[in-house]
Amino acid sequence: MITIALSKGRLAEQALDILEAAGYDVSAGREKSRKLILEDENTGLRFIMAKPADVPTYVEYGAADLGVVGKDTLLEEGRDLYEVIDLGFGKCRMCVAGPAELKGKLDTIPNKRVGTKYPNITRHYFEDVKKESVEIIKLHGSVELAPLIGLSEVIVDIVESGRTLYENGLDVIETVADISARVVVNRVSMQMKADEIKPMITKIREQLAKQEV
Ligand code: PRP
Repeated sequence: MITIALSKGRLAEQALDILEAAGYDVSAGREKSRKLILEDENTGLRFIMAKPADVPTYVEYGAADLGVVGKDTLLEEGRDLYEVIDLGFGKCRMCVAGPAELKGKLDTIPNKRVGTKYPNITRHYFEDVKKESVEIIKLHGSVELAPLIGLSEVIVDIVESGRTLYENGLDVIETVADISARVVVNRVSMQMKADEIKPMITKIREQLAKQEV
C-alpha cells in the first residue's frame, strides 16, 4: 500500500488527474465525502486529505510515503524530504508587493515591516539573499490589507493572476520564487517501497512529457 498525502482543494484534484492519466485507478481518491482517508485495497493506493501546510510533515515523518504540495509550502516548512517532480500546475509567484511607487526603491527604505503568511520564506529572502534585516509581521490571510492600512510597508505573498494586488492598488515589487506543485517522497519509503514508488515517479514523468508535446 502506498499512502499519498494530498493538499485538500484544487491541487488534490489536479494531482488525481495526473495520476489517473499516468495509468493509476484513483477512483478512491475522488470519493465525495468528508472522509480524510480514502483507500482501495485492490489498487494499493491510500489517499490522505491534509491541510496543504501539513503535507510535508506527514511525508517527512513517513505517515505518508508521497505527497503533492506547492513549492511555497515546501520552502516555508523546510522539511527533510525528496522533491522528485515539478508537476507544472498550480503555477504562481512568491513576490514582494506593495504600493507601485516603491518599485525600484525597496532597498532605500530602512527598517521595513513586511506582512506575510510566510515568515520563513520572508526571513530567508531579506536576511540571507538581500542581507537586510526587516521586521516580519505574521498574518493569516488577506495580507494585501497590511500596506493599505499602514501595518507594513510591503508584503510577501503569492501572486497568481495579479488581480488581488491590482484591485487593491498594489503592485509586484520583486519576485522571490517561482511556485508550482511538486511531488515529494519520504526518504525511507523511497528505499523500502522502491518497487512501487520508482515506477510511479517514472510514469508521472512520462505523462508530463507527453502533455508537454
Ligand atoms: C492568495 C494570495 C493572494 C491571492 C493571489 O490568497 O494570498 O491574496 O491568492 O491571487 P491573484 O494574484 O490571482 O489575485 P487566498 O485566496 O489563498 O486567500 P487568503 O487571503 O486567505 O490568503
